[in-house]
Amino acid sequence: MAFRGAHIQVDHVSHAYRRGGPLAIRDMSFDVTPGEALVLVGRSGCGKSTLLQILCGLLHPADGRVLIEGEPVEAPSPDWVMMFQAPSLYPWMTVEQNVALGLRFSGRSREIKSRVPEMLELVELSAFAKRNVQDLSGGQQQRVALARSLAPNPHVLLLDEPLSALDAFTRHALQRDIRRIAAEMGITLVLVTHDIQEAVMMADRALVLSANPGEISAEIGIPIAGERLPNTPEFAAARHELVRAYEAAAGLAMADVDRLETEAAEPLPAARQGRA
Ligand SMILES: Nc1ncnc2c1ncn2[C@@H]1O[C@H](COP(=O)(O)OP(=O)(O)OP(=O)(O)O)[C@@H](O)[C@H]1O
Ligand SMILES: [Mg+2]
Repeated sequence: MAFRGAHIQVDHVSHAYRRGGPLAIRDMSFDVTPGEALVLVGRSGCGKSTLLQILCGLLHPADGRVLIEGEPVEAPSPDWVMMFQAPSLYPWMTVEQNVALGLRFSGRSREIKSRVPEMLELVELSAFAKRNVQDLSGGQQQRVALARSLAPNPHVLLLDEPLSALDAFTRHALQRDIRRIAAEMGITLVLVTHDIQEAVMMADRALVLSANPGEISAEIGIPIAGERLPNTPEFAAARHELVRAYEAAAGLAMADVDRLETEAAEPLPAARQGRA
């Protein structure tokens, strides 16, 4: 299933929601290399969702441009798909019908027969194919949404806090699964999260944003080879570096930073830590 992710170029992008109004993001420029996993972190209101919507063509920037594989992004496409916090499934349909929707809407119904079972296997839901999605847990529903996003074979997967409504165990398992699947398929991943632990778990590189207006305040590499385990020194070092950068970007008091570090460092039960 080898597939090459797309190269994304963000070129001097600024955006205000009203002409002459405050800038939600100002003069952002960065590249995401094919197959890379990039995370955007920053406080509420710093423009993370605005930027993701511009990346996938849901929103046109007031200034600057975004290129995917060298072509300007003008509109949403099955080649670059976005996943949101809510899985947004059709409750009256089965799991496999929901997974088929992306293919059906993009006029590729002929691929449904082969692609849907393949995607269900990837997210470990083959046994649930005929079930109604309402019978599934929140984590399983988010897996269905992931399978639906991946079915058209996108070059880019954009994730706007898709795991924040899930419990810690499910969330942790999905963080690993999404990273593994994106790596296997070679998809370029751009993820937004408030959660530093999640950022270190999932990304190769982080952009830390400051607010009012949203700007890139720091860039931090997260070069951890192999499986990422929160209780390893390299994981803790990356988390520490990211918390400090977040602190600088957000102008937080030291007490807040210590609380953030404590929250991020909270161990997961041993049984789950070793799960691949
Ligand atoms: N539809 C909109 N109309 C007007 N202003 C908006 C709109 N959406 C967002 N904004 C403003 O743009 C700025 C950036 O918002 P955005 O939603 O991108 O932030 P965010 O980093 O995703 O925040 P959060 O972490 O809370 O999701 C904020 O000041 C917000 O109030
Ligand atoms: Mg947001």
